[in-house]
Amino acid sequence: MTKQRLIVDTDPGHDDAIALILAHHFAEVVGITTVAGNTSVENGTRNAIRICDLFGIDTPVHRGSSTPIASEASFASEVHGVDGLGGIELPEASRAATSDRAIEFLLDEVEPDVWVVPIGPLTNIAEVLKRDKDWFDRIAGLSVMGGGAHGGNVTAAAEFNIHFDPEAADIVFSAGRKTQMSGVNLTHQVQVSDADLKAVHRASPDSPRTRFIDQNFARIIESLRSLTGTTEVAMHDPCAVLAVTHPELFEFVPREVSVELRGTHTRGMTVVDERFRVSRDGPMIDVGYNVKADVVKQLILNVLYRDIGGA
Ligand code: RIB
Ligand code: CA
Repeated sequence: MTKQRLIVDTDPGHDDAIALILAHHFAEVVGITTVAGNTSVENGTRNAIRICDLFGIDTPVHRGSSTPIASEASFASEVHGVDGLGGIELPEASRAATSDRAIEFLLDEVEPDVWVVPIGPLTNIAEVLKRDKDWFDRIAGLSVMGGGAHGGNVTAAAEFNIHFDPEAADIVFSAGRKTQMSGVNLTHQVQVSDADLKAVHRASPDSPRTRFIDQNFARIIESLRSLTGTTEVAMHDPCAVLAVTHPELFEFVPREVSVELRGTHTRGMTVVDERFRVSRDGPMIDVGYNVKADVVKQLILNVLYRDIGGA
């Protein structure tokens, strides 16, 4: 079976790193575009290239937007560290970004069989749609990690990627085209814990890749433990990738989704309309509700510690 073709739009980011590894393993990654979010776009671009170096991902990396459309950047340093990867020691990037023209790459290089997988703020995608409102006609679909049907993570109401650039999300979601949204109501169902890692690690040989994977989990779990008291990490970005490569493991439902732009307590909230209606006139996107969480978690750990990590 031919591999699906993806472009990953990312702000690496601990869970972005796992998503990139999975995308490379299960699909053909024809391009990586970077965006400010977890960290600056400069850090994110450097991280993307260093992750590609370590995991043998020979894919162009195009640097993208450095600031949200209409607000100041608010990086997630408390979760991902100032550099975006918790200060994990990695060799210096072997190459510079292929270009600083991620928007043009997304405009010019997509094809009808290419899925675009934004796993950071939607700034780049919104800029694309501003320049070509018919862009969706030229891609297979958009598999977004962002939002949530019932609340958020960076605030009680908003999820980080949408909260970072709500105006961008509003542009993307109000197009109501070929978009599936893996929000935190879905991604929080797939949690990797310390215990999961202890169990799988015993069978995994030591290598630079497994050492990075171990440190990547350790840093994010430690950040979340000091923030939330929990000792597990949700597989947010990996879900957006696997929803394309393994759609049978996910359930999406068409919903009208509005993005709150003004609320004092709700800016960046994805307002998902779950009311029954005979007919609807608003733009609809597919909202993720259910996932075969145990299957997805085992699939992720197998790839990281058996298929990739050991190499
Ligand atoms: O809310 C989770 C999202 O915010 C993920 O994409 C994570 O990498 C952060 O960017
Ligand atoms: Ca991300």
